[in-house]
Amino acid sequence: MPVITCIDDLKRLYRRRVPKMFYDYAETGSWSEQTFRENSSDFDEIYFKQRVAIDMTNRTTGVEMIGQEYAMPVALAPVGLTGMQHADGEILAARAAEKFGVPFTLSTLSICSIEDVAANTTKPFWFQVYTLKDDDFMQRLMGRAHDAGCSAIVITLDLQVQGQRHKDLKNGLSAPPKLTPASIANMATKVQWGLGMLGTKRRTFGNVIGHAKGVSDPSSLSSWTAEAFDHALDWDRVKELMDMWGGKVILKGIMDVEDAKKAVEVGADAIVVSNHGGRQLDQTISSIRALPAIVEAVGDQIEVHFDSGIRSGQDVLKAWAMGARGCMIGRAFVYGLGAMGEAGVTRALQVIHKELDTSMALCGHRDLANVNRDILLVPEGFEGRWA
Ligand code: GLV
Repeated sequence: MPVITCIDDLKRLYRRRVPKMFYDYAETGSWSEQTFRENSSDFDEIYFKQRVAIDMTNRTTGVEMIGQEYAMPVALAPVGLTGMQHADGEILAARAAEKFGVPFTLSTLSICSIEDVAANTTKPFWFQVYTLKDDDFMQRLMGRAHDAGCSAIVITLDLQVQGQRHKDLKNGLSAPPKLTPASIANMATKVQWGLGMLGTKRRTFGNVIGHAKGVSDPSSLSSWTAEAFDHALDWDRVKELMDMWGGKVILKGIMDVEDAKKAVEVGADAIVVSNHGGRQLDQTISSIRALPAIVEAVGDQIEVHFDSGIRSGQDVLKAWAMGARGCMIGRAFVYGLGAMGEAGVTRALQVIHKELDTSMALCGHRDLANVNRDILLVPEGFEGRWA
């Protein structure tokens, strides 16, 4: 077993162990992938200021998110098809998250169902909601999340229609994977993955199959989004869904100050500044460039969280210093899951925590609560000077 020292080590192992169709699904942005790339590369433009001879004993990265204490300002993002990256993937990731002390978010388009994850974990998790046209399904979905004890819902606002990812179309992405000569040849080389999948019954969309109607190919993510998703979703509908839920709500997919103000107006508990990991609107700015203006506009009225591009604890520290009160990691935990199952997700969290904690210390801080933009050198015009 190679020594894992960084998220890239997990990614290399992940690539070897998981079928190409699912590796490509995670490691892809829409169209030209410009936004997918810049979500990460824009972090490289921000530098830390080193400080010395400051007592660094008794450090803490502990924070509160949505009224709960966590080990660090990191949550596992909702990722569709996680149970295809590793057998029972959502259950394993949720267990790693609860043991580490960070929130896990279950996707509507997960493989393991809400009930299954709840039965196999001990702490409440967050549930991500895609809004389908079928109102009866939505009512029941909220009820199921409630019965499972979910502590918040995360409503995704940026996927009424799906951004095109060329690789998913070329690979014929589906869950379970369709058997073609190419997919069989590739899966035959992923022995551990295959044995895991043979050993589980969870191989298709656990929250929707048998619960929702109106999709021509229920194994296909693109059919779900094209046929069943509510293209009419607007702020009134968001409010209705919030009332239907009646508990804590996080609105995900905010990239614009006016939208952030709307989220405050409808009474959300938090927003996530996110361009969906560069998987939806291509050639929009990176999330980290969008963050400062949104924090400036609404940061004193609502918890502003961040997602898209985080691959290290240094990235978490930069986003935190720029005002994000939580960071979602998607690909970074999926690499760990595909590489080593639950232990890999734990390793991803350990790596990020160590990078966050050590970098905070070297910037002269012992408590994240005291860290702000003063630790950063942000290039002039970083947020964009657009005519
Ligand atoms: C769906 O959320 C996706 O990004 O594939």
